[in-house]
Amino acid sequence: TYQDVELGSESAKCQPDPDRDSITSGEFPKGFKWSFATAAYQIEGAYDKDGKGQNIWDKFSNENNPCHVEDCQNGNDACKSYMNMDRDVGNMAKLGIENYRFSFSWARLCPKGKCGVTGEHSAAGIKHYHDFLDKLQAANIEPFVTLYHWDLPQALQDEYGGWANETVVDDFGDYARFVFQEYGDKVKNWITLNESEVVCDLGYGAGFFAPGLTGWGPQFHCRHHTVLAHVKAYHIYDSEFRARQGGRIGITMNTNWYEPNSDLQADKDASQRWMDDQLGFWADPIYRTGDYPPSVLARIPDWALPRMTDEQKKLNLGTADFFGLNHYTTSLVKDCDNNGNNCGSSWTGLGCSEWPQAGSGWLFSVPWGFRRILSYIDQTYDSNKYPIFVTENGISSRGNGTDLNPELDDAWRIHHYTNYIGQMKRAIEEDKVNVQVYTAWSLMDNFEWTTGYHERFGLMWTNFTSDERHTYFKDSARFFGRTAMTNCLSV
Ligand code: NOJ
Repeated sequence: TYQDVELGSESAKCQPDPDRDSITSGEFPKGFKWSFATAAYQIEGAYDKDGKGQNIWDKFSNENNPCHVEDCQNGNDACKSYMNMDRDVGNMAKLGIENYRFSFSWARLCPKGKCGVTGEHSAAGIKHYHDFLDKLQAANIEPFVTLYHWDLPQALQDEYGGWANETVVDDFGDYARFVFQEYGDKVKNWITLNESEVVCDLGYGAGFFAPGLTGWGPQFHCRHHTVLAHVKAYHIYDSEFRARQGGRIGITMNTNWYEPNSDLQADKDASQRWMDDQLGFWADPIYRTGDYPPSVLARIPDWALPRMTDEQKKLNLGTADFFGLNHYTTSLVKDCDNNGNNCGSSWTGLGCSEWPQAGSGWLFSVPWGFRRILSYIDQTYDSNKYPIFVTENGISSRGNGTDLNPELDDAWRIHHYTNYIGQMKRAIEEDKVNVQVYTAWSLMDNFEWTTGYHERFGLMWTNFTSDERHTYFKDSARFFGRTAMTNCLSV
């Protein structure tokens, strides 16, 4: 589990409010895109097939003393998507979904993580993604490819400490160049990094995600290097490939909406600090100022977080064609002591016991928070300049359904999607936010990191005990397909 949330329901924000909670249905702007999302480690399996190198999640999830994943599960086989390309493409085609966000496995392409001209490249890995992209094209599905969705080649972790060391910036650049060169004719939407905050805070700070390191040093060096790595990949694309390939490139950030618990200035300041910590850390350098937010620089000493030079600030600013957002939930934030200290667990703030909770302990369904985060991003980062691509949104169940009797009638999930999509519509229409893509996490139930196969985010149900990993349409999949095909939310 990412981290469970404390409950506090004394706040007025917990109570229903007819305006805040109402939604708008009907048609979406022409050209609006609907997509599914997955990630390589969570679905592919084939962890040692065809010369793939080990990555940090392969190692981490196979350690048994102690186990890092619930019930000692791992992603060795996952949904077996590596050998079920037709199944996955076919499912999307049947639903009428025309966009698919998925990630490349770095160690499948370059087993030791070195993709430069002298590096080792896997012919089978390279062919795999060509085959997959060709199948998508034949089915008329547009790819959105994430370069990094948490699966760093283990060799780079062993050699120099992975994201904590600045060498990773060059290695990521070589990987990006290699991938643009190889696939840039087929892929026009590139996402450099997925949720760097989670990578660094949980993998290098709290230690409960791979590679399991702890402390402010590794955590904030990791954060710093993810910014620099993104910027590097952007400039490589911009100067070497854009003119010929004509695609778009951006980064995907995750953030909760942090709602102040009251109208007190101290609570508003506390909420801004959390926005800065989770979103502004990446978004300010890339979309607004070139540098980290002032509240971050005030809080984190320079032994942990290197300061950007003036030259770096210039290089950072404007390095994206869109604003990739993964959003799931809202937290209430209050300043406990009027002294800059936040209440609640370290990164989540407080939840309300009134809010419907998902199968994941950190996830409350709070649709109005989605409208607010979209409008905050528009006001802070200008969605007319940087259109917002919602690259993930969704909800999980936990442990429901058996292999013989999967829970396919998920009206509660349809309810979640209807309300989030309906709030997004209000953001577009009433707040004039430029949102162009909406992506459901996930196409199918998959390996949910440290909770393994216990938390199911899929719109399709995956049978993890069948060798073939059969998949079944949940009602929510049909709902989402209908919404996409009609470009219309009907309630
Ligand atoms: C964000 C991550 O990008 C994805 O890998 C994860 O499965 C979902 N959120 C749900 O937790």
